[in-house]
Amino acid sequence: MDSSFILPWIASLPLIIFCAIPQAASSWWYMGAMGSQVMCNNVPGLVTRQRQLCQQFPDVMLSVGTGIKEWIRECQHQFRHHRWNCKIFDRDHSLFGKAMLHSSREAAFVYAISSAGVAYAITRSCSQGQLRSCSCDPKKKGSSRDNNGSFDWGGCSDNVDYGIKFSRAFVDARERREKDARAQMNLHNNKAGRKAVKHFLKLECKCHGVSGSCTLRTCWLAMAEFRKTGDYLWKKYTTAIQVTMNQDGTGFTVANKKLNKPSKNDLVYFDNSPDYCVRDREAGSPGTAGRICNRTSRDMDSCEVMCCGRGYDTTRVSRMTKCECKFHWCCAVQCKDCYETLDVHTCKPPKTAGWVDQT
Ligand SMILES: *[C@@H]1O[C@H](CO)[C@@H](O)[C@H](O)[C@H]1NC(C)=O
Ligand SMILES: *[C@@H]1O[C@H](CO)[C@@H](O)[C@H](O)[C@H]1NC(C)=O
Repeated sequence: MDSSFILPWIASLPLIIFCAIPQAASSWWYMGAMGSQVMCNNVPGLVTRQRQLCQQFPDVMLSVGTGIKEWIRECQHQFRHHRWNCKIFDRDHSLFGKAMLHSSREAAFVYAISSAGVAYAITRSCSQGQLRSCSCDPKKKGSSRDNNGSFDWGGCSDNVDYGIKFSRAFVDARERREKDARAQMNLHNNKAGRKAVKHFLKLECKCHGVSGSCTLRTCWLAMAEFRKTGDYLWKKYTTAIQVTMNQDGTGFTVANKKLNKPSKNDLVYFDNSPDYCVRDREAGSPGTAGRICNRTSRDMDSCEVMCCGRGYDTTRVSRMTKCECKFHWCCAVQCKDCYETLDVHTCKPPKTAGWVDQT
């Protein structure tokens, strides 16, 4: 692991050095794009504290890299039917173009899920014995009780406290230096994301005793799959609360006086989102030209909504599927290859010329 950690970075050297991207626009998120090529001094956009942690805990950084890939995939899954779809701009050290420079609802979600994803990945690596600095939760030993009676701690309880602690130290490092309103928003959402991971810890037990009578139980705490956290944060995204910073900078004031103050579990944001209809790097919008839409849906992925009224093109595509599958005794399934044709609808580009900008 140690050598693969260092060696392949040479391949990505030109990309890293010759991209004249201002440091302020980049972020630790970019580590996800670098895979195992992490060399702490060559990751653009790490603040000093993050660089120190990177050097001190190289093995944890591999988990961070895995975590970044996972939360980006989860973000793209959650937003797959939406105009803003968590798309990554290639070669952009901030990953999402300028989107995250806006204090939008989408930014709130991305900060929350990124912080959650890192906590999750580190916790899992602890349990798998991949990290020198942590292992299964050492506090879960001896016996305890739940609604079903007493049990003994056994097996491996996910050490989510460690994952959260490391995620907080690493992910929050930039925002803890900067004391402006946006930093406060990011910190709040980062924390909400980490709490979401803990929300889905559940007790799993194995029964012992006469013919599985369950008079004796061994139990451990296990994280649910990350999708649960993604679904949960998605709900929090849809109910995110628009706030402004208090005059004295100590907390948030809710924009709509009828709504409750945000709890620690709620996501908060300052700015309304752009409509994300056209490609606009300044607004962090990839635009919806070429996006697939659903002609019969009446939801966000409908052609009307997705294409912003610009209309869509329809192409007939054929694809190969397995068909007429037969089960042969024993034990094989044989299928034929069939072609099926289907219509795919994709959003037209805007009529104005500006969208062709491919940078
Ligand atoms: C208690 O036991 C029941 C049945 O065995 C099980 O379905 C339930 O999940 C258990 N509750 C807890 C809190 O472990
Ligand atoms: C389109 O939307 C309809 C209605 O929501 C849904 O039943 C159908 O599966 C969708 N089609 C595709 C290709 O996603």
